[in-house]
Amino acid sequence: MARRRSYTRMRGMLVPLREGRRETHMTEALAVATAEVLTGPTGREIREFPEPAPLDGHGPARIIALCNQKGGVGKTTTTINLGAALAEYGRKVLCIDFDPQGALSAGLGVPTHDVVTIYDLLIGTVRDPYEAVQQTTIPGLDVIPANIDLSAAEVHLVNEVAREQTLARVLRRVVDSYDVILIDCQPSLGLLTVNALSAAHGVLIPLECEYFALRGVALLVETIEKVKDRLNPVLELDGILPTMFDSRTLHGREVLDRVVEAFEDKVLDSVISRTIKFPDASVAGIPVISFAPEHSAAKAYRQLARELVARGAVA
Ligand SMILES: Nc1ncnc2c1ncn2[C@@H]1O[C@H](COP(=O)(O)OP(=O)(O)O)[C@@H](O)[C@H]1O
Ligand SMILES: [Mg+2]
Repeated sequence: MARRRSYTRMRGMLVPLREGRRETHMTEALAVATAEVLTGPTGREIREFPEPAPLDGHGPARIIALCNQKGGVGKTTTTINLGAALAEYGRKVLCIDFDPQGALSAGLGVPTHDVVTIYDLLIGTVRDPYEAVQQTTIPGLDVIPANIDLSAAEVHLVNEVAREQTLARVLRRVVDSYDVILIDCQPSLGLLTVNALSAAHGVLIPLECEYFALRGVALLVETIEKVKDRLNPVLELDGILPTMFDSRTLHGREVLDRVVEAFEDKVLDSVISRTIKFPDASVAGIPVISFAPEHSAAKAYRQLARELVARGAVA
């Protein structure tokens, strides 16, 4: 059934008409609004993903690394809100803060000092990962925090045997307690990120809908291929998640067109729009999912969670 809303076609995509622009686009908009199929921002038909079925039991977890060597593209925001959305759907989720900035820990409102962190587990001063696990305010969502100590880990690991697999060895001990483990990587392709890719089953790449954002993706995909080839044959690219999308600018839509052209089905249907609610929620130390549960941003992350379950990336 066609939805009765005014759309206009721009560069092959249907774009909701803004108030005030109705007059100029009326003819085309009317034609488009009566079409049988509506397309989303990726230019594909809009699909609804079903609510995930409850699980009989928990674990072992599928491990997903959120990776992009560019900073400020939405890795941490996605880890927090995807984690919260999956927890809402009854999944047991563990988020790993793998960035010395500790933004994930802060965003989930857990302490990062005078507590056991991922650094202690990596260098082996603490052997039991459960000593580092903290609960968040969201039932079913746990986190292993990080702080600036983690920046010394690369130097520390350099002389280790199988230094790329250190995180994988740590996570092996918790994998049975969770349905999904999300690793929030730091913005680099250094040894820590290689550790995350070696420990993971899948990679999710948040990609800012901005022209220069595309440049680094080839290098990232090459790194993923290398890790798959040399260290972790099961590793797959689970998807590219367009973030900071602004449907009102031609630029945002052009970038999204190009991403879809280049990566086709790897680009997820779920697209995260740019909205001020994210910085607001970060300041509050809780996910948008619970800070503003009815906001379109919260709905977008719930859709992402449903899409990943539908694609088989999460149980
Ligand atoms: N969709 C969005 N719209 C607006 N701001 C966002 C969005 N996603 C993230 N942000 C904000 O952008 C900044 C960087 O996001 P973050 O998730 O920390 O990126 P990364 O972890 O890749 O460095 C943060 O202040 C965050 O609140
Ligand atoms: Mg981050």
